[in-house]
Amino acid sequence: MTQHISLTRYLIEQQREAGHIPAQLRLLLEVVARACKRISLTVNKGALGSVLGSAGSENVQGEVQKKLDIIANEVLIDANEWGGHLAAMASEEMDAIYVVPNRFPKGEYLLLFDPLDGSSNIDVNVSIGTIFSVLKMPEDDRGVDEGDFLQPGRQQVAAGYCIYGPQTVLVLTVGDGVAMFTLDREQGSFMLTEEKLRIPEDTKEFAINMSNMRHWAPPVRRYIDECLQGKDGPRGKDFNMRWVASMVADVHRILVRGGIFMYPWDKREPNKPGKLRLMYEANPMAWLVEQAGGAATNGHQRILDIQPSQLHERVSVILGSKNEVERVTSYHTAL
Ligand code: AHG
Ligand code: MN
Ligand code: MN
Repeated sequence: MTQHISLTRYLIEQQREAGHIPAQLRLLLEVVARACKRISLTVNKGALGSVLGSAGSENVQGEVQKKLDIIANEVLIDANEWGGHLAAMASEEMDAIYVVPNRFPKGEYLLLFDPLDGSSNIDVNVSIGTIFSVLKMPEDDRGVDEGDFLQPGRQQVAAGYCIYGPQTVLVLTVGDGVAMFTLDREQGSFMLTEEKLRIPEDTKEFAINMSNMRHWAPPVRRYIDECLQGKDGPRGKDFNMRWVASMVADVHRILVRGGIFMYPWDKREPNKPGKLRLMYEANPMAWLVEQAGGAATNGHQRILDIQPSQLHERVSVILGSKNEVERVTSYHTAL
């Protein structure tokens, strides 16, 4: 039987040998992993744990919150506030940043998360997940405020997600490639099952919500039209389509076997740049994808280079296999 190493050992080796992570960041990642383990157990209980259904409230983006959105948010806060590794947290489900209370020591990191991604899939038992991003507090900063979070994604020091699917898998980067850890429920530990993931540069699989086709901008329409023409069209090959409606699951598939994912701007809400959130979804996923040899843009610029102006800002997202992302991006600049 293959011997797998634990997340703890992987992180210690990253700290000791590769020098990629300081001790405080290692602690942070272990705590996030522990919180994800707890969320995974809660998700698994489903109706038996009375965790399905709506909470009857709305978040700052005007979306109806599910019970699990709120539970996962609380689990992440409870797990992270006391360890001394964080200055503050920000979440898709909270209007304002959560500053670590004064009764606890403060650390030098900022943690951002989408506690439960794929909310529409909770009640129908389809894969969902937690997405997280870690930034460092700017130096010489005396007090923490929202402005400290407004850093471009290229300044992330760690990013990842945990997918709650047929297996619970934690996917992580600290800037040295992408590693995957599968939860061993008997041991209660995440075990390394894949390292140095590579996304193939070409693909025949796209992921987009096709029901929005009539609302798309011309560059996105052109790209999908060409894919749909298959072998007889300009691409000269047939394409396959997948859309899980949980970004974690769609990105996970792309990390495992390639593909392109798009949630572009569309004219349903013309004043919003897109549906997905830059700080909680696009930045961590863009960094993971780049670390695995893929690309991520908003059609005009690299996602990781976008200077955020607001915590809850939205963005158009095109990510995955490099050559396809470059093609869609070139269609935007050509018009
Ligand atoms: P969340 O559940 O955190 O609000 O995110 C849902 C996102 C993302 O996971 C997914 O790709 C997309 O919304 C699906 O949107 P549609 O239902 O419009 O397809
Ligand atoms: Mn989400
Ligand atoms: Mn969410």
